[in-house]
Amino acid sequence: MEIIRIPGVMQDTCRKQLQKGRSLGFVPTMGALHAGHLSLIKRAQRENDIAVVSVFINPIQFGPSEDLAAYPRDVDSDVAKLRELGIDTLFMPDNNLMYPGGFATYIQVDGLSGKLCGMTRPGHFRGVATVVAKLLNLTSPTRAYFGQKDFQQTVVIRRMVRDLNLNVEVVVCPTLREEDGLAMSSRNQYLNPEERAAATVLHRALTLTAERLLAGGLSPAGLKELLTAELKKETLVTAIDYAALCHAETLEELQDIGQAKEVLIAVALKIGRTRLIDNLMVNID
Ligand code: PAF
Repeated sequence: MEIIRIPGVMQDTCRKQLQKGRSLGFVPTMGALHAGHLSLIKRAQRENDIAVVSVFINPIQFGPSEDLAAYPRDVDSDVAKLRELGIDTLFMPDNNLMYPGGFATYIQVDGLSGKLCGMTRPGHFRGVATVVAKLLNLTSPTRAYFGQKDFQQTVVIRRMVRDLNLNVEVVVCPTLREEDGLAMSSRNQYLNPEERAAATVLHRALTLTAERLLAGGLSPAGLKELLTAELKKETLVTAIDYAALCHAETLEELQDIGQAKEVLIAVALKIGRTRLIDNLMVNID
């Protein structure tokens, strides 16, 4: 596996592969790789001639009071996992090469970025869109792979790709879950054993709400109340940032179930000091 740290070298390497007519699958990550990441990477390998992964903890998507310094880092284990999978190229740039002095250009996807997670994490999706645009420009992938757990991120990236006519297929892959339903996430490492047990409330509450939605009879407001009440039953939940039923493309909260064929049920909350997100997509057609 080739490890590249310099953006210009990455760009040349990927362009050479594309000139040979090879398809390139790209998986951007912030490291601390878990089975969820590995499933995206394996899919990129299956669907393309070459698979490229980036490991870069993007500072501009963290707010001033967020967990950038504490974000889990385990480069040796990441490299070992990628070698074992037989990844062709790993891009692991330094901050100062991605954001050199005087860096001043950002991508803002208006509207979508301010909803759901954007309400409590202003600037987060500007940071995500900017780094993903840079990474796509450096790798020129045929396909780029993202997990459904970060659903809003996938909606923002799809819109950016459409609006800027970027030549890449965005592939969204299903959320991988632990046996008890908890969505896999690098942030699960922060949870102590009691918090880890409490974290199952997200999937439980989402599933219950999805079942009641499919059973019919409750309005979005009623379902939101049910979802919130279920989350509040868990005493280790210290804050609920949102619990919402939304249109899957606009992320607008639904007033009426008939407004959408697919309903996104999404939650962000804190257990102790750890912020967790999860969602389910329900097809009501
Ligand atoms: O989902 C993530 O890990 C990050 O937001 C991403 C897409 C790698 C951008 O930094």
